[in-house]
Amino acid sequence: MLSLIIPGLLAIAGCHAAETPNKEKEKYRVFDETTAQHVKDFYRANHAYQTLEFVLEKEKEYLPLRHKKMGIWEAFSIFDTLVDESDPDLDLPQSYHLFQTAESLRKDGHPRWLILTGFLHDLGKMLAFFGEPQWAVVGDTFPVGCAYSDKIVFPQYFDRNPDLQVPLYQTKTGIYAEGCGFDKIHMSWGHDEYLYHVVKDYLPPEAAYIIRYHSFYPAHLDGAYTYLMNDYDKQMLPYLELFRGYDLYSKTEEKLDLEALMPYYQDLVSEFFPSEIDW
Ligand SMILES: [Fe+2]
Ligand SMILES: [Fe+2]
Repeated sequence: MLSLIIPGLLAIAGCHAAETPNKEKEKYRVFDETTAQHVKDFYRANHAYQTLEFVLEKEKEYLPLRHKKMGIWEAFSIFDTLVDESDPDLDLPQSYHLFQTAESLRKDGHPRWLILTGFLHDLGKMLAFFGEPQWAVVGDTFPVGCAYSDKIVFPQYFDRNPDLQVPLYQTKTGIYAEGCGFDKIHMSWGHDEYLYHVVKDYLPPEAAYIIRYHSFYPAHLDGAYTYLMNDYDKQMLPYLELFRGYDLYSKTEEKLDLEALMPYYQDLVSEFFPSEIDW
């Protein structure tokens, strides 16, 4: 595998061709002994280091949004150099994934706000360029401060997480109350929660919700953590399920003419966003 080093910032796994164009659905998100070693290594680190204490620290560091002022397009251009090590299904630059997701939503006639959600949803991976290791940026997310669900990928890797030794954090609801709502929960730190705070004031609440929980696969794919949901989460769940199909199954080798698509997306971004926002 090639490796690309961005000086002083981040070592990123390089591109190698995705296996087959338009592969069958059951071949996506395979997490077992056949999963690529770098994906397993990623989850080993992610599950060992994502503690409640770590998450609280990162929320304090990032959520005041004091890191940078920039427009969506500047963020987008940085994306071209990032490949997600946690993803067994995509080895293309992330910006291409954003176009693919948005275009598949557009093809199916979804509203402009949802197409825009597809176009932006992973921009929180900007965290990698602020110096965060990949295990604190990408991958599936899960609540911290309560028991781990066995629906989380590679749950056996939590054996090295110090929170496993804190009895309160290992009860079903942990530090939370039953039915409190995802909004009250600290999720493992990553691009979802970060981008939610960056864009929430500019987008409809459904879009912000999708961005915040799109990597929470244990909940929206496998039905875990229903006891932490409130009525609003139950109402929003179908949006996560709908979006998941586009996020996941648009990862094909089908070629897009990005230049021809640009005017549409420039127009879409400026409909919702000012030229600069806080990151
Ligand atoms: Fe994502
Ligand atoms: Fe994505």
